[in-house]
Amino acid sequence: MLKVDVVTAFPDMLAGPLGQSIVGRAQKAGVLKLGFTNPRDFTEDKHHTLDDRPYGGGPGMLMKAEPLYRAIKSLRKKNSVVILTSPRGQTFTQALAKKLAKKKHLIFVCGHYEGIDERVYPEMDMEVSLGDFILTGGELASAVMIDAVTRLLPGTFKKQDVTVSESFEDGLLEAPQYTRPEVWRGKRVPQVLLSGHHKQMEAWKREKALELTKKYRPDLLNTSQAKKAAVNKSVKKKAVKTADKPAAKTARKTKKQTKK
Ligand SMILES: C[S@@+](CC[C@H](N)C(=O)[O-])C[C@H]1O[C@@H](n2cnc3c(N)ncnc32)[C@H](O)[C@@H]1O
Repeated sequence: MLKVDVVTAFPDMLAGPLGQSIVGRAQKAGVLKLGFTNPRDFTEDKHHTLDDRPYGGGPGMLMKAEPLYRAIKSLRKKNSVVILTSPRGQTFTQALAKKLAKKKHLIFVCGHYEGIDERVYPEMDMEVSLGDFILTGGELASAVMIDAVTRLLPGTFKKQDVTVSESFEDGLLEAPQYTRPEVWRGKRVPQVLLSGHHKQMEAWKREKALELTKKYRPDLLNTSQAKKAAVNKSVKKKAVKTADKPAAKTARKTKKQTKK
């Protein structure tokens, strides 16, 4: 079971999306335990002030250090990892999702408004960004990360191997996938996938994953994982060629039929 606490002044921005579908089911199954802590509950003035104007001028308001500090302190245990959602942090990746999925307790801290007082940064164990763009707050960023981590937890899926063949798992994008019907608007599912020949299907998927990665994300091919996958691919290339032949033939046939 992974315990995840989110420090946020806007819990509804996460509670809705994370209560649905697979993450919602993971909570019901006790795989994920999700809690929200509002830093506003840790303010001491009668207006429960959470933000204030930045020193030195500048637009907007900043989240005050003390309520965040106290909210984090109320949650932190020995095995906790405190993660600040921040545009200046390391970019979130599948590799990081995997690391976080092995932890026992994650605390996501959501900045809002113009961000948070610099002095509270040392309370964080890591700062993580979703990418080079600015969100209104860390809530959606936290929701995205919690989603990605939850699907890696044992027990989230009945068959955990659904996550194994996915994009980024071996440094490559995922191979194209098809479902019924076998022929859709004249477009046929590659024959090799109907063959039932496990080895040939695996080799075909590897080959296609490599092709797609070269086309869409050549930058990924420099990782050691991807290089390993590429070596496997060249060994299996012969098998793929054989497997692909009938598929190409059928595709040509279907094209002719469609033209008629
Ligand atoms: C409007 S942003 C503050 C941006 C800040 N003034 C800056 O220029 O870097 C408010 C909060 O949203 C969250 N946030 C914004 N963009 C993000 C991103 N790309 N990744 C993760 N969190 C982000 C952070 O928690 C941030 O403190």
